[in-house]
Amino acid sequence: MNKTSQGTRHQSPRRGELLMLLEAAQDKSAHLSQELIAELAESLGLSIGEVYGVATFYSFLSTKPQGRNVIRICQSLPCLLKYAQTIIESVQKEVGIRPGETTPDGRFSFELTNCIGACDGAPAMMVNSDVHGDLTPKKIAKILQAYK
Ligand code: FES
Repeated sequence: MNKTSQGTRHQSPRRGELLMLLEAAQDKSAHLSQELIAELAESLGLSIGEVYGVATFYSFLSTKPQGRNVIRICQSLPCLLKYAQTIIESVQKEVGIRPGETTPDGRFSFELTNCIGACDGAPAMMVNSDVHGDLTPKKIAKILQAYK
């Protein structure tokens, strides 16, 4: 390793900057492909593993293609205590996929996430950037109808 590459390795951007760059890259490309992660790592002088580690740590970042609408149900304790499991089952029934999957028509991807900051409306979920709280199984179908 020469001095230049050693110097670059020690000038790692702060985690927040990397996170901003990953968000921006995902906004452009819909997901963080291996090629995109490799390019970002190269341009920042980081290892692919470091960038991949951040890209897979946050539930709002995705390293695989997502549907047009991403459903994220909170599975943190306050929501679980308010029967989030029944909401998870209702979503599975409504869209026909399990967490981690995307519908064949690309309409929905379904993820579980940690707290989304809507604890006062537990159980809560996000569809894209929209927060929905005080969920009941009956509300799920109506909410999801709006996302085509
Ligand atoms: S614990 Fe579910 S939104 Fe905070």
